[in-house]
Formats: sequence, C-alpha cells, structure tokens
Amino acid sequence: MQYEARKFNLPSLDGISDESVKQHIGLYEGYVKNFNAIASKLVEYAADTEKNAHALSELIRRKSFEFDGMRLHEYYFEQFEDKPTALNPDSALGRAMSAEYKTYFQEYFKAIGNMRGPGWAILYWDPVGKQFQAGFVGEQHHGHFVTLPIVLAMDVWEHCFILDYGAAGKGKYLDAFFKNLNWGVVERRFDAVAK
Ligand SMILES: [Fe+2]
Repeated sequence: MQYEARKFNLPSLDGISDESVKQHIGLYEGYVKNFNAIASKLVEYAADTEKNAHALSELIRRKSFEFDGMRLHEYYFEQFEDKPTALNPDSALGRAMSAEYKTYFQEYFKAIGNMRGPGWAILYWDPVGKQFQAGFVGEQHHGHFVTLPIVLAMDVWEHCFILDYGAAGKGKYLDAFFKNLNWGVVERRFDAVAK
C-alpha cells in the first residue's frame, strides 16, 4: 500500500512565514514519496536477496529515516491546525504536566530543542511507568523511546527557521512554535494513551 501525503488545515502562523510552511510541507511530501519508492524497491529486491544484498541493506537502513520523517511531520503540522489554543490546566494532560514538570515544561522542552544537530524534541508518555519521557531524536530516527506513544513533536531542523530567522534563529523559532501550538491536539493524544 502506498502512503498518501496528508493535507493540513493550517491558519497563517505567527512568526513562521507562509513561505516557510509551504517549503516545509514540500519536504514532508518528499518523505512520503521516498518512503513509497523504497517500499516498492524492496519488493523488487526481495525476489533475489543474494544478488541484491547490498542494495537491500542500504534501503532497509533508510526505510525508518523516511517513515519517521513522514509520520513525525504529520504529528508536527497537525499541532498547528485550526488555531493556537492554550493548555487547559484542568485537562488530564494539564494535570499530569503540572504534577511532573511544575511550571518549567516549556523552558525545559525548548532547551532540548536547542541541542545541537538536526532532530526533534519529543515528549512521550509511558503508560507503564505513568510518566512523561522528554527526549531528543537525532535526524528523525535515532534515540526514540521504543513503544512509547508521542504526545508532542517539535521539529528543530534548520529548515524550520532558516528562511525566517537565519542559521542562528533557532531560539526565535522555538518561541514561535509554542505561540502557534494548538494544545487541544496534544490533549487529545494524551487522552488516547493515558487511560
Ligand atoms: Fe521538518
């Protein structure tokens, strides 16, 4: 089955230009296209694994890079859909976040996002340990917390901000990310996994 690129119902963002969003959506669509291409090639190469051993191993390594790029961008863009919405402190997510992070979550998460190198700051919920795990994922596939569902995904690759703020503009972009975030989306993800 081929994956299809999703369309997002995005408002004009504050501090992230329409042109930047347009180019970023183009990159997202590239991940979908590349994943589909790899999946098709693998079917072909699987017919003779001995002859295609090198190509097969290279594509298998790249497969999760493309898939994770596709899926993480879907999580990313849907967080801006409709309109910016504050975190409801009385929601299940609001209560769990204030129990674990008091009032410092945003600064902490931005500090993770400010780490060097291309990647993502990601907040997971661990249904077993009943706690959040916040981490930095290199590129889009190195350092995930296996099995944990993602509740918040913040892209911190340079392509998110270089057009609007230049190579040194990550801090301004991180502020804009939270300014535009629809916390309602994050609350719904949390409700679905924190039963
Ligand atoms: Fe991206």
